[in-house]
Amino acid sequence: MRQNLLRANSDLLRYPIREVVEIGKQLEKLGHFSMIWENIGDPITAGESVPDWIKGIVNDTAASSAAFAYTDSRGDIKARKYVLEHFSNEKVCTIDDILFFNGLGEAINKILNHLPKETRVLVPSPTYPSHATAEAMHAGCNFISYQLDPENNWEPNLEEIENKVRYNEQIVAILVINPNNPTGSVYRKETLEKIVAIAKKYDCFLIFDEIYHHMTFEGVENTLLHEIIGDVPGISMKGISKDIPWPGSRCGWIEIYNSENDQNFRDYIKMLLLAKMLEVCSTTLPQKILPTIYSHPKFEALLSQRIKKYEQRAEEAYTFFSKIPQVRINKPRGVFYLVVELLDLPYSQLDAKTKSIRILLNKLEKQTMQEDFQFSYELMGSEGICVVPLSGFGSHLNGFRMTLLQNDDAVFSETLEKIGRSITNYYGEQA
Ligand SMILES: Cc1ncc(COP(=O)(O)O)c(C=O)c1O
Repeated sequence: MRQNLLRANSDLLRYPIREVVEIGKQLEKLGHFSMIWENIGDPITAGESVPDWIKGIVNDTAASSAAFAYTDSRGDIKARKYVLEHFSNEKVCTIDDILFFNGLGEAINKILNHLPKETRVLVPSPTYPSHATAEAMHAGCNFISYQLDPENNWEPNLEEIENKVRYNEQIVAILVINPNNPTGSVYRKETLEKIVAIAKKYDCFLIFDEIYHHMTFEGVENTLLHEIIGDVPGISMKGISKDIPWPGSRCGWIEIYNSENDQNFRDYIKMLLLAKMLEVCSTTLPQKILPTIYSHPKFEALLSQRIKKYEQRAEEAYTFFSKIPQVRINKPRGVFYLVVELLDLPYSQLDAKTKSIRILLNKLEKQTMQEDFQFSYELMGSEGICVVPLSGFGSHLNGFRMTLLQNDDAVFSETLEKIGRSITNYYGEQA
């Protein structure tokens, strides 16, 4: 090749939620077993069935000619109207402030990539890896973060946010994921209000990833950005991947708030729209379907039945892991994930299912890796369970994230048993 095809810092491009799968697939083959995939937040892959009424709407809409056409670059007008009236707030947002994307993944990348290289977005740690990776790739160095505190229900460290924003003029935006992936926390209103106040004080804009806004457990109140943003410029991110659930639709949107309050922010938003125009529009079919599914009389019941199941799973997992002395755990208040912190985690090994697995694991473990990556590989090779190491979410803490999605009660309990046994064996003598 005439030139190097790799960008400088290309090693920053990471997505551990799927990277562990590559290793998992190899281990499956070597051990002749089927892995339990606890790595990805996809309800359908985890066994949830799609109700016939949803399939019927998709079939009927797909059969209409309109589903074959482009939409407006911002998105289908009826979908945007529905979003504005049901999920957003006409006090801070208009129909033209809603932009549809091919999944939030695309929106995340566009939002970060269209900022100047020298600006930074402060992201949480742990975080959903797409945000951290997009931040790092855009800046060409490691992402910049604030800690979520496991000793305080994974709430954001407000003092750290304020200090980082105050002393680093490059920071132009603060990212909040609420309800949170990976921790399952749902932040207190006062916490969020304080973050809005910091953004206002230091002239930053806010990015709230609210893709799990429907997913809170019984009695837990969720505060949305549009309820507290006041006159600060901001972006809320939402989508249909988790709550319909239809992750394969690749359909998400952003709601832009208060863009008229800051000329510079408005010009930046114009860039996002132009970038979308360059691609013409996002996929039409899921946008056409969106209002019909959300307003269907059976939608609410479907959602609450799913959330109830996740809450039961959270309860069972919390009770189970609380008995293991080497772990720290916070009970999720929403979403369908659980983070299990592994305290003072050593490098160790488990009893691999086959000799070929042992050989591969030994080879992998010769490379430098964080302790919790080694634990995850060993868990796959011994018990056939794939979880995502907590350090893969941009955390300095060791642990893992599993999902609460498993549809089969017995398989879920058995998965907990196997993970629990592995933790005890992994710590071995130190236990
Ligand atoms: C917090 C968060 N944001 C964004 C996404 C991406 O969603 P989408 O399927 O719309 O790309 C996910 C997916 O897991 C997520 O957990």
